[in-house]
Amino acid sequence: MLPAEVSLYWWVVYAWLGVAAVTFISLQFITAPYGRHMRTGWGPTLHRTAGWVLMEIPAVIVPLVFFFLSDRTGNAVALAFLLIWQLHYVNRSLIYPFRLTGGNLRMPLSIAAMGFFFNLVNGWLQGRYLFFLGPQLDATWLADPRFLGGAALFLAGFALNQHSDHVLRHLRKPGETGYKIPFGGGYRFVSCPNYLGELVEWAGFALLTWSPSGIVFFLWTAANLVPRARTHHRWYREKFADYPPERRAIVPFLY
Ligand SMILES: NC(=O)c1ccc[n+]([C@@H]2O[C@H](COP(=O)([O-])OP(=O)(O)OC[C@H]3O[C@@H](n4cnc5c(N)ncnc54)[C@H](OP(=O)(O)O)[C@@H]3O)[C@@H](O)[C@H]2O)c1
Repeated sequence: MLPAEVSLYWWVVYAWLGVAAVTFISLQFITAPYGRHMRTGWGPTLHRTAGWVLMEIPAVIVPLVFFFLSDRTGNAVALAFLLIWQLHYVNRSLIYPFRLTGGNLRMPLSIAAMGFFFNLVNGWLQGRYLFFLGPQLDATWLADPRFLGGAALFLAGFALNQHSDHVLRHLRKPGETGYKIPFGGGYRFVSCPNYLGELVEWAGFALLTWSPSGIVFFLWTAANLVPRARTHHRWYREKFADYPPERRAIVPFLY
């Protein structure tokens, strides 16, 4: 591997961590305007389903292209990394957007464009490291405690995320557009178990890949979703007088 490529990778890692820090600070003052926090003043809009597909599709395509361009297509560990990644992203970009409830809602094109750019860079970071720059791991890695523990965490987070999104999807009857209090599963403890599940997934992915790219993505997810969970939580408490008082925002019993 050329030293210039390695140094470019590390430059992107540090720059991306800097952008995550700026995002985290900005989200203390600004709430991303989509879903219940949608508002005018953010430029042209597009259909929400199209917005979600546009935002998330680079995360499917970019690592897939890197995998097939690499010389690791016959490597079991590289294939496992790819399949675990795609388990999340095929759902998020190609299934989840078509199951959204609440009618023909829209989102700002600027938000979709930011999501697209994020997933382009993140897809590059994951694909470049896992299939080119990182060590080529042999099949014994699949029995390593880091891989097994990370995979268990990833699957637990994925299950929590899926179940929590499923609960939300079934709150509205066909044609309904409002909001209700979700109950059951992770909602017994927090307002945003879907975000908590997402965080656990990417912590697991960082562990199972043992990679700087995985850690950066986990930190980015936290920078984005922790402030949004807090905003959702406040919103629930203001909107519903009977909102369960013991529920936290995103970390059970703590926050
Ligand atoms: N990795 C990341 O950084 C990242 C970033 C963003 C999102 N995500 C993931 O993407 C998924 C969606 O995120 P999101 O921010 O759109 O989640 P969200 O605000 O919880 O909304 C998810 C869906 O459920 C509906 N919904 C939410 N609360 C509801 C309620 N109380 N009553 C009725 N319907 C309700 C929403 O409708 P409305 O659209 O009408 O509000 C939306 O269709 C989540 O699984 C999240 O983890 C990941």
